[in-house]
Amino acid sequence: MNASGALPHLQPSRSRGIAAIGAGHMGIDHIATLANPAAAPRWHLLHVCDLSTGRLRLAREMAPHAALHTGDIDVLLADPAVEAITVNTPSAVRPGIVLRALAAGKHVLCEKPLAPAPAAARQLAEDIGCLLEKRSAAGQSPLLLTCNLFSRNIPWLRRAHDLIREGAIGQLAIIRTAHCTPKWKDPSRLTRPRPEGHTLHNCGMHYVDLIRWLSGSEFTDDATCRATRFWGGEYELHFMAQGRMANGCAWDLHNSFCYTSLARDPRNWSVVECIGTRGVISARHDFHDARFEVRGPALTLDETFSYESKQLSRYYDDFACALDTADLGRLPRIMDAVIASEFSQRLVDQALAGPVPNFGDASTFSLSS
Ligand SMILES: NC(=O)c1ccc[n+]([C@@H]2O[C@H](COP(=O)([O-])OP(=O)(O)OC[C@H]3O[C@@H](n4cnc5c(N)ncnc54)[C@H](O)[C@@H]3O)[C@@H](O)[C@H]2O)c1
Repeated sequence: MNASGALPHLQPSRSRGIAAIGAGHMGIDHIATLANPAAAPRWHLLHVCDLSTGRLRLAREMAPHAALHTGDIDVLLADPAVEAITVNTPSAVRPGIVLRALAAGKHVLCEKPLAPAPAAARQLAEDIGCLLEKRSAAGQSPLLLTCNLFSRNIPWLRRAHDLIREGAIGQLAIIRTAHCTPKWKDPSRLTRPRPEGHTLHNCGMHYVDLIRWLSGSEFTDDATCRATRFWGGEYELHFMAQGRMANGCAWDLHNSFCYTSLARDPRNWSVVECIGTRGVISARHDFHDARFEVRGPALTLDETFSYESKQLSRYYDDFACALDTADLGRLPRIMDAVIASEFSQRLVDQALAGPVPNFGDASTFSLSS
């Protein structure tokens, strides 16, 4: 694959039936991808299920040929034409749905986090392990599962990963990453509960996973994390973490939804820099364009791509290939999602264990208007 993400392989063998559960903000992106034959040529979206009729109406516009269901997933689990289920509900109900889908003999793709808190994510991984072992003991066919840790879908990050492995920047020594966005603009959000936890858990787990994936190593116990609170809100925190991987690679991570939120011209700060003994790989994006740079002894690149959000087309394409080969390939394993959840939450807990300085309060919103 080149850095723009062109896939040179794939002669699609056949289209596979899939059902989507959850048609909310993220679920509808999955549905739009699966209902578009150009984006997901290996898939045929047969069913969509959501508790909300309003969300199903929206799904109907995107996937006019799919059967729609409010709540009853038994119908779609019983359909033998459905080979895989994509679970894009809130994480509170995800473990139960994932286990039911596997018990019905369906392959599973699911959104992150696996569960609202890491302990439940680990429990789910254990329950999945038991279920798959029983299937194997009963001589039933193996099932594949993955989780949408979306950094791994992004073509230029895949390229960075491969170039690091090929030695294009020598030995990787440092990873610096930031994902800070102007997400909160509304003071009512200051008191809104966040069922999937703090920014660094529900969003930052992607970047925790990215560091682990790029470094090819495991986190050590020496990580430290600081939080800075904005506007007095419980969840309005800028997290700064740093540490070292077992292979010695040092890392740092900034993650926040408060960044430039109240600026007249907000912008995001989304970057990853991989610093090696013989060069640097750098990727940044502004949600419109992505810039990918390599400065190595034998390779110089400076390329700009259109930023295509979560690149779900690639995710589904890879999963179809995984089913062809019975191998997840570079798709994340369930344990990758458990580790990302556990380590992110560990950083959050550490940051919140001590006093967290606060800057600004709810009146800051009116002062800025
Ligand atoms: N990978 C990513 O980059 C990414 C990005 C955004 C969100 N997410 C994750 O995706 C998940 C969904 O987020 P969202 O923003 O779409 O949430 P949402 O609240 O907008 O949508 C959830 C949908 O699930 C439906 N639902 C709830 N329980 C259900 C059930 N038992 N059966 C069927 N439908 C049910 C709801 O009616 C709702 O339409 C979250 O866990 C979130 O963290 C992942």
